[in-house]
Amino acid sequence: ALSQVGMLGVGSMGAMMTLLMAERGYEIFFYDPSEKNMDQLEQQYKDIHLESQVHRVGSYEEVCKNLGEPKVFMFSTPHGGPADKCVESLTPYLKKDDVIVDCGNEHWENTERRQRDLDPQGIHYVGCGVSGGYQSARAGPSMSPGGSPEALEMVMPFLRTLAAKDSKGRPCTSPVGPAGSGHYVKMVHNGIEQGMMSVVAEVWLLLTKGLGLGYEEVGDIFKSWNESGPLRDCFLIAIGVDIERAKGKDGEHVVSQVRDKVVQDVDEEEGTGTWTCGEAVARHVPCATILSAHLFRCASADLRRRTKNKESAGTGIDAQPLAVESKKDFVEMLHMTTYFCFLACFAQGLDLIRQKDKDSDWNLDYLKVLQLWRGGCIIKAEHIADVLEKLYSRKDHDKEDILGNPEVGHELAKHFPAIKKVVLKAIEADLFVPSISQTLEYYKYETSTGLPTQFMEAQLDYFGQHMFDKKDDPDHGPEKGKHHYEWKRATGSSDK
Ligand code: 6PG
Repeated sequence: ALSQVGMLGVGSMGAMMTLLMAERGYEIFFYDPSEKNMDQLEQQYKDIHLESQVHRVGSYEEVCKNLGEPKVFMFSTPHGGPADKCVESLTPYLKKDDVIVDCGNEHWENTERRQRDLDPQGIHYVGCGVSGGYQSARAGPSMSPGGSPEALEMVMPFLRTLAAKDSKGRPCTSPVGPAGSGHYVKMVHNGIEQGMMSVVAEVWLLLTKGLGLGYEEVGDIFKSWNESGPLRDCFLIAIGVDIERAKGKDGEHVVSQVRDKVVQDVDEEEGTGTWTCGEAVARHVPCATILSAHLFRCASADLRRRTKNKESAGTGIDAQPLAVESKKDFVEMLHMTTYFCFLACFAQGLDLIRQKDKDSDWNLDYLKVLQLWRGGCIIKAEHIADVLEKLYSRKDHDKEDILGNPEVGHELAKHFPAIKKVVLKAIEADLFVPSISQTLEYYKYETSTGLPTQFMEAQLDYFGQHMFDKKDDPDHGPEKGKHHYEWKRATGSSDK
């Protein structure tokens, strides 16, 4: 059984995973080109007396020389260049059957490229998403490994000892599938995460600015949502309680002092959120909430532009309190709206994974995907996982489309009136609801026939001979229609 691991990259995530592995009985040899990272980790393992388990070494070569065969490495490096550098530096010392488990937020295409490059030498590369931030990395994260079946078989027992456990004690890791599927699923996890975070932020605005509730009151509301009901045991609701309650030395709520600017890491012009949105567009999956949340974040990051635009607009948007009859009823509507939007984020993310799964013949097991998200990760949401588990446990479930399944379809239909009311009221008061309103529209168009795209199709046929279907024609799926009309000649109106 595996007893030694070479750890490459010990920034905040890598350092915490090193301590976790050491505590679970593995002997670790670690290296990071950053002395600062190595110094910090050295202090940390000395503080908790793990010196006999954790060894700092001075080079990639030294890590390799210390490990028994086959060698197992874990990466926790920034994606792209730094991870490539790591592979390059290790390659001269690698042999057949050695395994690299890349725990960074790597792009799945980079993972697949490295798998192809290393495969001829019999070296395995597992792309393993790790979720839950540095606290989970320390206590046990959610881990989504993808790669060759042999490699997964080798590393699964090891990963199971590290991963978070769900409420029933089951590890929140399973072999996701071949190739880059582990990193793909983690990328989409982060897209779902972004959608959910924006929804909570917007709901927070409606509760505070909209209803005039204080931070403590909102903290209590989040606490009660987290305790029971459809948002029970949601990581993002649970941390909302702490965020609402935290006070600095000055006695002020810390969140009240935070600027409204969400940037990507400075050395990272791209990331999992951007990639998920690109994938959604490229694969024609309408991940409206996820995309809207991402654009909201991008806009927020450019404070200078917003400030300048506000000045040129003269007045700017002045959000008002919400005009509602009963605050208590509205809070409950916000509760259901949050659930509606969270569920929609999962539906969008899972539809995207499903599309990629089909395009790449991965044959994923969605019950296993759900299990990854049962604990340790940012999108943990117990009730939603239960709803989806019921869906995926049904033999005859419609694999193509989450909304088309009664488990999700009925849940969303039930809360449609609540989200509609919330959006109407928020818009009336000029409060920001980009992701919530997009979720409402997504739900409307994804569950309707008779869309105004009928007119769009006519426009396209007018100037581009796009061809259209008539309402009585059989539907041939995404194929182009069979009819064209010479619109201009017909009316002559556009000559004027
Ligand atoms: C997680 C998180 C983590 C992620 C950042 C998001 O699952 O623990 O998704 O992996 O990288 O928290 O940060 P950026 O969007 O700024 O990359």
